[in-house]
Amino acid sequence: MALKRLVVDVHTHLYLPRYASLLRSRTTLPKIISREDGERLVILKDEPSGGRPIGPVYTERNEKLEFMKKHDIDISIVSTANPWLDFLSAKEAHSMALELNDDLEEYCSTGPALTGTSMRQLYGFGLLPLVPEITTESLLEAVKQIAASAHLKGLIMGTLGVGKGLDDEALDPVWDAIEAAGLVVFIHPHHSIVNSETWGPKQNGHVLPLALGFPFETTVAATRIILSGVFDRFPSLRLLLAHSGGALPQLSSRLASCIDHDPVVASRLKHDARFYLGKLYLDAVSYGPEELGFVGDVLGRSNRFEAGSSSTASGDRVAGSKRMLFGTDHPFFPPLSSSEKWKSVVENLDAIENVKGWTEDDKDGVRGGNAISLFNL
Ligand code: URA
Ligand code: ZN
Repeated sequence: MALKRLVVDVHTHLYLPRYASLLRSRTTLPKIISREDGERLVILKDEPSGGRPIGPVYTERNEKLEFMKKHDIDISIVSTANPWLDFLSAKEAHSMALELNDDLEEYCSTGPALTGTSMRQLYGFGLLPLVPEITTESLLEAVKQIAASAHLKGLIMGTLGVGKGLDDEALDPVWDAIEAAGLVVFIHPHHSIVNSETWGPKQNGHVLPLALGFPFETTVAATRIILSGVFDRFPSLRLLLAHSGGALPQLSSRLASCIDHDPVVASRLKHDARFYLGKLYLDAVSYGPEELGFVGDVLGRSNRFEAGSSSTASGDRVAGSKRMLFGTDHPFFPPLSSSEKWKSVVENLDAIENVKGWTEDDKDGVRGGNAISLFNL
């Protein structure tokens, strides 16, 4: 009998009960409001129709496990969903981060384990108290806590850093500690980079902020990281970008050209911008095989752009696929009618299955093998 290849979901969220209680206690964004027809989650500015319905699927471990079972997902690396601790004071964020990291470790460690009798396993991404006025000591304490938690394999962060973005030099000691601890940083959007006026009439609902605003936010954040030389200073840092890196793969040659024509920036970086793209890990949450194939091509050509390289070989789609990892974005994008499987999951699995040029081994890697190596599971 062929050994079952594991399926690992690296992009799957929850609101831990402690965090959900915090949102329920609030009257300003982000908040959970109670209505006659149930609770609603209101986290985005100008959310249409009073936010989205929220139920146990956002908070309960059993629901996560049921979802995993329904979609044959063996391992989930669960992360707190946006907007994390962004709205708290430094003091509140410090204690909440430490408490939520302990909660998440317990959520994972007291769940089932991947053994002969049970086939689901939970791991997590912890949180840092990334808010303005936080001390470096506080951030390092949370990194240390996560590194010491057996089931926490990395941490999730938004794009604001301690208020000045992820290219802020104040974060250097944090990148240093994360790199030394071998933790993976999952960079995820929340704030969008354009204001609601740019989105036009309200009848477009959530579509524009989620489809464009989220990935563009990630695109800008990752580009700022590259431009600030973070990868030159911390070459072993492992960053995983949500939603396949947004528009960065598509814009990377344009970015390289703009850098070339700007002597101030060009002299600062050791390599061509496209080299740094090949250092990133991207989730495979892009819903189409053509997009995944393209992203694989872009990641797989990075060696050509290492300073001093004379290689002119074209992009290697397969090598690029090694840095791509399956995700679902559960419990967001629930099915609109009761259905056996979630469309958002089926589409992402179908996309992996149908990439031209990927062998079964490459697809198995994206579905799970790459995550097992990256997170040392
Ligand atoms: N909507 C969100 O607010 N967060 C996600 O991660 C996905 C959709
Ligand atoms: Zn997400």
